[in-house]
Amino acid sequence: MGNVAIDVGTYSGTWNLEMTLWQSRLEGQLDDAVMQFTESLSFDVELAPYDILCSKAHVKGLAKIGILTPEEESMLIASLDRVSVEIDQNIFEFKTGDEDIHTAIERRITELAGDAGAKLHTGRSRNDQVATDLRLYTIDNLIDIVGMLLDMEGVLLEKAIDSADSYMPGYTHLQRAQPILVAHHFLAHGWALTRDVSRILSSIDLMDVSPLGAGALAGSSIALDPHETAKLLHFSKLFENSLDAVSDRDFVADALYDLSIVGIHLSRIGEEMVIWSSNEFGFVSIDDRYATGSSMLPHKKNPDVAELARGKSGRLIGNLTGLLATLKGLPLAYNRDLQEDKQPLFDSVKQIKLALPAISGMISTMAIDRERMAECADSSYVAAIDLAEWLVGRDVPFRTAHGIAASLVRDSLVRGVPLSELVEAHPQLGSAATELLNPGTSVTRRVTWGSASPDSVGLQMDRFRAKLESDRRRLEDLGHGSA
Ligand code: ARG
Repeated sequence: MGNVAIDVGTYSGTWNLEMTLWQSRLEGQLDDAVMQFTESLSFDVELAPYDILCSKAHVKGLAKIGILTPEEESMLIASLDRVSVEIDQNIFEFKTGDEDIHTAIERRITELAGDAGAKLHTGRSRNDQVATDLRLYTIDNLIDIVGMLLDMEGVLLEKAIDSADSYMPGYTHLQRAQPILVAHHFLAHGWALTRDVSRILSSIDLMDVSPLGAGALAGSSIALDPHETAKLLHFSKLFENSLDAVSDRDFVADALYDLSIVGIHLSRIGEEMVIWSSNEFGFVSIDDRYATGSSMLPHKKNPDVAELARGKSGRLIGNLTGLLATLKGLPLAYNRDLQEDKQPLFDSVKQIKLALPAISGMISTMAIDRERMAECADSSYVAAIDLAEWLVGRDVPFRTAHGIAASLVRDSLVRGVPLSELVEAHPQLGSAATELLNPGTSVTRRVTWGSASPDSVGLQMDRFRAKLESDRRRLEDLGHGSA
């Protein structure tokens, strides 16, 4: 940021570039240390496109109620368009007195549009302005993230389809529990993402409220039409209470919570990929483009993407708890503390936008070792529950059947006799029951809704595909805010 000479355009007023916009009431210049401590331009520049949208809507609103002439209106809209280009092309010149993106843009508009520029802030405060900008930013970015989540769901579905009837051990307590289709496992993560999508879509609905027109805290004596500006910005609802409108940051907390849960889901996938790609498991091999080497150990191939999927969730949770601590105990209405809402939000949005394509790519390119997975699932002990349920089918009470299967497993382990021999020899079991222990049999026996067998998973896959398609349509129906 420097104080470089600028084209002051049509402006002929007495603007002092060294001053902040609000300095008229106060004497002397802001201390440098204070400026550095309080400025937000270094990060809220990210809000520039939304600030311009918000200002365009405000300008149109002011023109509609006769505060701006049609000429002034077009001049301001043209100036806002110009500022937008300057910012996009990175040629916008920031000045020493620009404490945030709102003052920087208003200052530039005043340089470009003179007296009309000086009318831009009529009936508006940075308090309702920043609340509006931030809602637009949040909705826009959450919509992008929903699109990315749906893409990742698509990757998980493809992976489930590709793995066909391969099976693997399903775990509880990270101990082999029952064989499951590999597709069932991929879809399990997919369903978690469908909840993320639904959660984010409901948060978007909740935050789809325009605060513009609330002013500093109490509205304005100028007869603005906030319904009109809300419509121009494509908000479906309008604030009911000006104090609440400028001080509400629930939507930021909602977004940070939603993104934390996404991060937690990604971290669970990441943790599994770390385990699955280890030599000890050997279930998957991560593609070289998604792995890293070691600076010292020549043989290493490390699952860094998966580890960061796990590691980044900590900072997402930190961003949420940090914001909640900032909001706690704030009196109504606006307080400068609220400026602290942006960095955690921007960071979480950025991290999730970086994480989703990287993790999706890692999953879609990793190779699955079906034989290794099947071999681990084929231990006869994981079919113990099938022995018990087979007995239940022959009128043995479950608790008794469970006892029989458990004692056979114990005997087999203690005496070192294969389980199949003991089953064969058992008076209530015999050779028909021995077949339950054949490789690949157990997984086919589940008949219940949503279970791990090929039939159930086939049905589940259809339902997953239908959910994905309907969520894609919901996303298409969501309009982006624009003035
Ligand atoms: N940079 C400020 C923020 O992010 C803008 C609002 C400033 N309002 C004020 N009354 N100082 O919150």
